[in-house]
Amino acid sequence: MDLQKYFKTKKEMIDGMLEKHFQVPSESPFAEIYDAMRYTLFPGGKRIRSILTLAAADALGKDNNTVLPIACALEAIHTYSLIHDDLPALDNDDTRRGMPSNHIKFGEDIAILAGDGLLTLAFEFLSNIETQNGDSAILLEAIYELARAAGPRGMVGGQACEVRKRKEKECELPVLQFLHIHKTGMLIRAALTIPAKLLKASNKEYEAFKSYGENLGLAFQIVDDIQDAQKGKKENFSFPSVMSLDECKARAIELKDKALSQLSIFDKKAEPLRHIATFVVERMHAKNPN
Ligand code: IPE
Ligand code: IPE
Ligand code: MG
Repeated sequence: MDLQKYFKTKKEMIDGMLEKHFQVPSESPFAEIYDAMRYTLFPGGKRIRSILTLAAADALGKDNNTVLPIACALEAIHTYSLIHDDLPALDNDDTRRGMPSNHIKFGEDIAILAGDGLLTLAFEFLSNIETQNGDSAILLEAIYELARAAGPRGMVGGQACEVRKRKEKECELPVLQFLHIHKTGMLIRAALTIPAKLLKASNKEYEAFKSYGENLGLAFQIVDDIQDAQKGKKENFSFPSVMSLDECKARAIELKDKALSQLSIFDKKAEPLRHIATFVVERMHAKNPN
């Protein structure tokens, strides 16, 4: 299959829906906070989490429109996490995706609020979903799943543990793996399990998505670490700080294979999910990764 074409089509769907949510007249008193949120949201990055959500719906043979609000919610949370991650108190990064970071452009005050706004909007999008047969119990489960993945026992917890651990010089593999699974893996896993819940996947399908997401999520952060190391960035809390680059690459491939093996219960409708797993890991060989 043509993965680039698939990405383009899905990105158009996601961006079209996001655009609708992020329009505000220039004379509005809220224009500045919307500008700041839009700045990091558009054109955005790879949209990998939101595309995974649509690919999960495809694998189940279900309509993408039902899960588009989940896709938007995930992009909003991911974008907030990057804005806050770049702040001086955290990673103190002046650039993101080759552009000035949000706080450099809008100031720390507005950048913090832009992150808060995006996080809150994610739950507005999700709670506003019209479930096909008014099954609000399922919607509640989906909202719970997102809150759990993004919160203090998920992404935020992972970031908080990393902040503390950074003060130590050495990092051991099990600790590093724990941090990666939480700060990055949980949201990627949620990109699969939330659509599974909402689209009433069977237990077997849900478990397969969950495990695919866990393995891919960890592989994703390892590949991100490899790319940073290849760009010459030395991070204490990264896989290349505890093993050689070749070992990191082998670990990423092993996780990708594990992710792929989970998809054996699905037919060819899961081809996009299979290709995405390969794409994520192949990026570690790219010369100019984004
Ligand atoms: C970057 O995530 C931060 C990590 C969790 C590794 P992405 O690589 O998905 O960022 P964009 O949105 O594509 O720039
Ligand atoms: C990004 O993590 C933030 C989250 C995972 C929540 P990193 O610090 O590892 O990623 P980059 O290098 O800033 O994109
Ligand atoms: Mg960072």
